[in-house]
Amino acid sequence: MTDLLSVDDLGPSGIEEMLTLSESFLGVTRRDIPKVPALRGKTVVSLFYEDSTRTRLSFETAAKRLSADTMNFSVASSAVRKGESLRDTAQTIEAMGVDAVIVRHQCAGAPHRIASWIDASVINAGDGRHEHPTQALLDLLTLRRHRGPSLSGLRVAIVGDIRHSRVARSNVKALDAVGAQVLLVGPPTLMPESIEGWPVTVHDDLDDVLAEVDVVYLLRIQRERQFEALFPSLREYTARYGLSATRAARLKPDTLIMHPGPMNRGIEVAAEVADGPASIVVEQVANGVAVRMAVLWSLLGSGGTIA
Ligand code: CP
Repeated sequence: MTDLLSVDDLGPSGIEEMLTLSESFLGVTRRDIPKVPALRGKTVVSLFYEDSTRTRLSFETAAKRLSADTMNFSVASSAVRKGESLRDTAQTIEAMGVDAVIVRHQCAGAPHRIASWIDASVINAGDGRHEHPTQALLDLLTLRRHRGPSLSGLRVAIVGDIRHSRVARSNVKALDAVGAQVLLVGPPTLMPESIEGWPVTVHDDLDDVLAEVDVVYLLRIQRERQFEALFPSLREYTARYGLSATRAARLKPDTLIMHPGPMNRGIEVAAEVADGPASIVVEQVANGVAVRMAVLWSLLGSGGTIA
């Protein structure tokens, strides 16, 4: 594997290997000095055309903990603002001698195009509404830390704006690959145009499924993607699909609450639920560093030792 563009690049065995490797890197992140020389001499660049807090910083942290050199590309202060194309930008960056390019872009397929233009490894850090594979890996790792190595049969409700969600697309593939059952929950207008062939069941009433699921995975309402045209109002969305304290009280005692972030507190999740004992949102972020160390090491480590 030279690139990670989709969960499909891994398949069930690749996901298993990546999670096992991530567990090793979790051990590294807990050392007094959480740093190994595994990628010394390698250079990793973040090429983010869209805003990010978690993904950008955790990739940067992961690269630094592997002793790679890092470069950050900011669209706002780059030649993109003078009209430089995606291809010219990617090839310009590669010409400086980088080994991996981490790409976030508002257009689905942008990382795939870049991978066809350059020899450096390309990692998809979220492309439009298409995929976000490292988010799915860190979510699986977080679930495994709570539920053990087998997630087979786990019932996971992904709730909200599925239509615009790359997180949902990658998670459906990854959860299916490990044998979990996925329930997509939301209004019909926020479901994808076609879910034919998706290994999921679809539900438009959150209250119907609350008591039977092991995980509630809330998605962010993406107001920037014309949400208002698809649902009467935020208030009505919250009334029907928001995880309020009242709804959370109907979950099984061991049901876990997840969210990829950033959260809209008071809309898809009540603040007291987001901060409550069932929420593992902060753990998701922490585990993201180990997962991204595993991905970088797998692509650039050339079979070396972690140390
Ligand atoms: N989950 C996620 O992708 O968050 P960021 O947009 O902050 O990277």
